[in-house]
Amino acid sequence: MTTAALSIQNVSKHFGKTRAVDNVSFEVNRGEFFSLLGPSGSGKTTLLRIIAGLETPGEGAVYIGGRDVTKLPPYARGIGMVFQDFLLFPHKTVGENIAFPLKMQRLPADKQREQLEWVVSLVRMEGLEDRFPHQLSGGQKQRVALARGLVSRPDVLLLDEPLANLDRELRKEMEVEMRRFQSEIDIPFVYVTHNQEEALTLSARMAVMNYGKFEQVGPKLELYHHPATAFVASFLGATNHLQGKLTRPGETYSHMDWKGIDLVIPSPSAAGPGDTVDYFLKSEKLGIRTGEATPEGTNANRIRGKLRDIIFQGRYSDYFVVFENGEELIISETADIPSVEIGRSIEVTWPAEAGYAFKNEEEEAS
Ligand SMILES: Nc1ncnc2c1ncn2[C@@H]1O[C@H](COP(=O)(O)OP(=O)(O)OP(=O)(O)O)[C@@H](O)[C@H]1O
Ligand SMILES: [Mg+2]
Repeated sequence: MTTAALSIQNVSKHFGKTRAVDNVSFEVNRGEFFSLLGPSGSGKTTLLRIIAGLETPGEGAVYIGGRDVTKLPPYARGIGMVFQDFLLFPHKTVGENIAFPLKMQRLPADKQREQLEWVVSLVRMEGLEDRFPHQLSGGQKQRVALARGLVSRPDVLLLDEPLANLDRELRKEMEVEMRRFQSEIDIPFVYVTHNQEEALTLSARMAVMNYGKFEQVGPKLELYHHPATAFVASFLGATNHLQGKLTRPGETYSHMDWKGIDLVIPSPSAAGPGDTVDYFLKSEKLGIRTGEATPEGTNANRIRGKLRDIIFQGRYSDYFVVFENGEELIISETADIPSVEIGRSIEVTWPAEAGYAFKNEEEEAS
């Protein structure tokens, strides 16, 4: 028995030879924003559909509010759903669209009115109830879809890439709104996305999925700062992937040969001399030096390269530096660096622990 709002226990689903969901377990508490993050085809939608009851798991069980719902149909589970493509009824008004689940439940009229008013004010759509979907902006349509998912006050709200169809600016705005809705109610959200920025902005805890499995699940900052696998590190925004051979293993720091350049890295677990190592570095953790004051210490990396290009990204710029081994690193700097010109030699510096190193298991297997 579990008291979590939602509990998934050892759920698997195969489609022929495809293991869409492979022995997944997790819990989501009341009021929590939980994200499922993973690349296309990693099983996110399948897992969400299993929770919703739109798909039957091959193995495992789904509990909502401590109740085993594995064999219950979708309408009996107490869930709300929001999809990527809104799915609004074009010939119904905003109010009718939002109230649709209440009609289906045959709630008394006054109760329907009360819940409709509550949700319309929550998503700030007051005064727009009589409009039709074609009279709304993209963001407003998305609010209607959210309101419809929430109107029956479900025990869990499931969202499948609800912001994917919005342009970047609107998406950012809706992310802020979504956090606000969620903080005002205690309905837990299970939010599917393949956008790492979105998952990091919105959720408290998250899981990274790959080939149907959970690679890692936990508080978002734990995944961001302490990725457990190479996949999580690369998926959560490590722009630079350096592959090399472990030369000198040590307790805290080790050395790796990065195609001819010696680097100090945090010691990867279970790796010995000669093993292939993947070292992931976030571009914002690297620094550029144009002269003097270079960092010292056993954990400091300092390598000289040639600035190939600078790409202005708005709040920061990406510096592309090529090294003598032919490899390139991207360094993001928020401040303008004077006296740095394309073609010039510059020094790139970072402490070993600015990145994450893993023994490459694939090399091992092959
Ligand atoms: N009904 C189905 N029949 C056969 N294979 C399926 C079915 N539904 C999903 N799959 C397969 O299961 C795997 C997981 O699919 P799923 O839709 O869950 O991925 P996803 O993580 O949601 O991807 P996306 O980000 O592209 O939406 C994929 O390999 C997909 O092709
Ligand atoms: Mg999907």
